[in-house]
Amino acid sequence: MNEHKVSPPMFRAMKQRGEKIAALTAYDYFTAKIMDEVGVELILVGDSLGMAVLGYENTLPVTMDEMVHHTKAVARAKPNALLVADMPFMTYSTVEQALHNAGIFIQAGAEAVKLEGGEPVIEQVRALVAAGIPVLGHIGLLPQAILETGGYKIQGRKPESAERLVQDAKLLEAAGAFAIVVECVVAEVSTAITKAVSVPTIGIGAGAGCDGQILVSNDMLGQFTWFTPKHVKRYANLAEEMRKAFAAYKKEVESGKFPGSEHSFQ
Ligand code: KIV
Repeated sequence: MNEHKVSPPMFRAMKQRGEKIAALTAYDYFTAKIMDEVGVELILVGDSLGMAVLGYENTLPVTMDEMVHHTKAVARAKPNALLVADMPFMTYSTVEQALHNAGIFIQAGAEAVKLEGGEPVIEQVRALVAAGIPVLGHIGLLPQAILETGGYKIQGRKPESAERLVQDAKLLEAAGAFAIVVECVVAEVSTAITKAVSVPTIGIGAGAGCDGQILVSNDMLGQFTWFTPKHVKRYANLAEEMRKAFAAYKKEVESGKFPGSEHSFQ
């Protein structure tokens, strides 16, 4: 028994104690290992995989096979953090589909699944929880709904939108979600959502009033530099470090400086 292992009920307890939750996305073994060393509580294999790693324009083309492949890689790190897999677009449209696909993620090593939406996916959330699969909710900006909403728009600016978000959070809590991601929602509304539910909110672009925060790791590491959303704080500039390293290597190969005798076998 590993006493450091994070489980879904611990998140509600953290909220009660007023402890903030630090969550990040990871898509590979090594990144997950390093994150776990510093005690991140939740690792999400997000479908942001599509843009962060696979070069897609958005999350819509991401498949179950791609997500399962990366979930397995992260699971091999055996993190103490709770490992959550993101259900891709159109893989939880019905309760049967949600149960089938979530089961595949659990068998791949995930310990919970995330799905986007409030009221429209409540039956799916209830069925998953009843089947023993912990669910992380996701409200606010829903990247899988960009075709319907017309793009990546900040949510909760209008009173009816704010009210719907609070209602969705309450429905998710009642359906058994252990925590709720709140994406790109005006700060005042995120705070209201956080106060309205006893499960923690994990914000991304949702201000400081949430119970925790999540960022896409490639964004915060400065690996994905072609576009940086306003809510991302860069904690490193890895793209620049990589550029410098690749350029130095190329120069040394061309000049014959690499490999030196210390990197050669006599
Ligand atoms: O796919 C993802 O990385 C996410 C986070 C932004 C919450 O859904």
